[in-house]
Amino acid sequence: MKAFIVDRYGKKEKLHLREIAEPVIKENDVLVQVYSASVNLLDSKIKNGEFKLILPYKTPFVLGHDVAGVITKIGAKVSHFKVGDEVYARPADHRIGTFAGLIAMNEADVALKPKRLTMEEAASIPLVALTAWQALVEKADLKKGQKVFIQAGSGGVGTIAIQLAKYLGATVATTTSTANVEWVKALGADIVIDYKKEDFETILHDYDVVLNSQDAKTLEKSLRVLKPGGKLISISGPPDPAFTEEMRLGWPLKMVMGLLSFGTRKKAKRQHVDYSFLFMRAEGYQLSKITALIDSGIINPVIDKIFPFEKTEEALTYVESGRAKGKVVIKVI
Ligand SMILES: NC(=O)c1ccc[n+]([C@@H]2O[C@H](COP(=O)([O-])OP(=O)(O)OC[C@H]3O[C@@H](n4cnc5c(N)ncnc54)[C@H](OP(=O)(O)O)[C@@H]3O)[C@@H](O)[C@H]2O)c1
Repeated sequence: MKAFIVDRYGKKEKLHLREIAEPVIKENDVLVQVYSASVNLLDSKIKNGEFKLILPYKTPFVLGHDVAGVITKIGAKVSHFKVGDEVYARPADHRIGTFAGLIAMNEADVALKPKRLTMEEAASIPLVALTAWQALVEKADLKKGQKVFIQAGSGGVGTIAIQLAKYLGATVATTTSTANVEWVKALGADIVIDYKKEDFETILHDYDVVLNSQDAKTLEKSLRVLKPGGKLISISGPPDPAFTEEMRLGWPLKMVMGLLSFGTRKKAKRQHVDYSFLFMRAEGYQLSKITALIDSGIINPVIDKIFPFEKTEEALTYVESGRAKGKVVIKVI
């Protein structure tokens, strides 16, 4: 099969399109023919080597964290899927590789594809929707009537998180730049702040939850828009001790990671708010709940551009620009 390979870590390193052996399935695996994949900043960060200590992929490896496709083979112990099922997934860490013709995944990471979506639309969903779910449902336990500030409402995570938060009954504030204000409002956000012209800290007060996806300065300001007892959940760091436990990191790394978030945790404590870092994980069961929300029209995909498979490198560069409006998708078939 054809696949886009990382041969060497590095910002300047290119992906290489090569013919490689088909994946071999384990007894709980499904083999999926990739119809479509989508690009995440995590792909670039992994290729650049930024995650090498946490997720030490041994080169050469196939990149790609989102897939929609059709099951072509199942392992002996697979019980929830059959050959021919249309599925989508964010494969688990250490088992990534959706920029390819085929991928083998544990069935626990897979869900049936929403019926009303095309393969391209479906591939745009798993990583960002699971991130939104794990932040707003699992960590924040966001309730009807609460106020949530979701940064970067025009991004991959933001577009889905806004729709999920509205479904949960929250009042949603978000940030984006001038050109995106109107269509982000149309996604359901109640308050849209143009970050080029206004400072969210002067507008938002007494929030229950902030989903932070930006830099350290934004993180610090976010602490101040929360009410006492509020929750600051960051997907852009710094990592907290719970994350080091989840990733089963050795003690030197645990120490370093703990120190990275020490200041933030201290400030959060002073403000009487809770700080936590989220590194999303694969989870087929949660994805099946997202399938139901999509099929009932509650969550809609937002796609900026679709690139042909051969242009995967260009798709990655486009995402790295930080200007994507929703998701960037790769059409494999
Ligand atoms: N920890 C995790 O599990 C996890 C999971 C998913 C994503 N992430 C991280 O979360 C971040 C966001 O991911 P993403 O996929 O949503 O990114 P993305 O789709 O690439 O974000 C692009 C969007 O961000 C907006 N943006 C850029 N700077 C902004 C600012 N200062 N304020 C508000 N909006 C701004 C841009 O709008 P304009 O063009 O209008 O500026 C653009 O629409 C990334 O760092 C990613 O690595 C982490």
